[in-house]
Amino acid sequence: MKKGGTGTLSKEKFFEPEGADKIKPFLWTEKGLYVLDQRKLPLEEKYILCDSIHKIRKAIKVLAVRGAPAIGICAGIGFVIGLENWLKKKELNKFKVNKLRQVVGWITNLLATARPTAVNLFWALERQNKVFESFVKDKEVLSKSEVEELLEILKKEALKIWEEDIKANLKMGEFGEKLLPEGGILTHCNTGALATGGYGTALGVIRSAWNKGKKILVYVDETRPLLQGARLTAWELSKLKISYKVITDNSAGFLMQLGKVKAVILGADRIAKNGDTANKIGTYALAVLAKYHGIPFYVAAPSSTFDLKAESKKDIPIEERSSCEVLNCFKSRITPPGAEALNFAFDITPGELITAFITEKGIIKPPFEQNIPKVVSHES
Ligand code: MRU
Repeated sequence: MKKGGTGTLSKEKFFEPEGADKIKPFLWTEKGLYVLDQRKLPLEEKYILCDSIHKIRKAIKVLAVRGAPAIGICAGIGFVIGLENWLKKKELNKFKVNKLRQVVGWITNLLATARPTAVNLFWALERQNKVFESFVKDKEVLSKSEVEELLEILKKEALKIWEEDIKANLKMGEFGEKLLPEGGILTHCNTGALATGGYGTALGVIRSAWNKGKKILVYVDETRPLLQGARLTAWELSKLKISYKVITDNSAGFLMQLGKVKAVILGADRIAKNGDTANKIGTYALAVLAKYHGIPFYVAAPSSTFDLKAESKKDIPIEERSSCEVLNCFKSRITPPGAEALNFAFDITPGELITAFITEKGIIKPPFEQNIPKVVSHES
């Protein structure tokens, strides 16, 4: 891990792990967390400075930063910034552990309530809480220098979470590209560098296959209502010079019927022990279509996206967002006055519709109930 370098944004010193991607959804500097505002892409590439826990929470909530792994990494960093800011306000030489624990609880709760579905958010906060607890173990009071030491350790953990994610994505690319045939590959939402610590999950696998010289054409679902596919995946693929065509979400079935789709690959926000998978709304419909047409359906996700405490889909909370996102297309109203709408951000694909999971620990094939816990363990 290194500290240093110059951001594309400014001349500030910034913290980032080895191997960070050239597409940077966030930059961590001594001033705070700069988030590339994904709501504005691809028309504007603008970073917003989140120098408080409230601003980081808001950036996650409004989808300025999004994608399960990216949310987790930002929560890990937000945890540090939240604690650092609180400590800065107190000019004390000694800190009661109980008071610190209260502050840590408040920080955790604020960040954990930003969005409910992506488990990476809770997983990263749990990691930071464990680091905190093991540092304060058997102590009642921390001196100023001990508190500074604790902050350094938490910073390192945040960078480690980020670095591990990049490594996991590269590994998934290595394992997953072997599964991808040449021809049309359909993907949904955005699972690239923008949604992760770098490189991407499903888009990372596509990237690896492309780099291996496979002749691929990516069909990019536009992904209503927020158009993560049309705006973000297309933006990344353009930068990477990978061939693609944006399609409306409802074109997928017809393309499959025409024999143009050779495989579907996408990401996940939370995967239960039995393989039930929460991902961007529309994923379930794609899985049903793929099954009907006999097309392989892959989910690429790091082990941090597996929730072994969730037995099945009944244990996965699904975020419902404002109906305004459906009733309007960005700033333009597209529905009559008084129209109502439903806006589930995610749906759940039953494990039985998934051909295999691509993880950094290997490919997981059915039976998932047995194989997921064998491959994915949060202990190692
Ligand atoms: O609402 P979003 O844009 O955060 O949803 C993102 C997705 O559904 C992604 O497919 C998922 O987080 C995997 S990102 C590698």
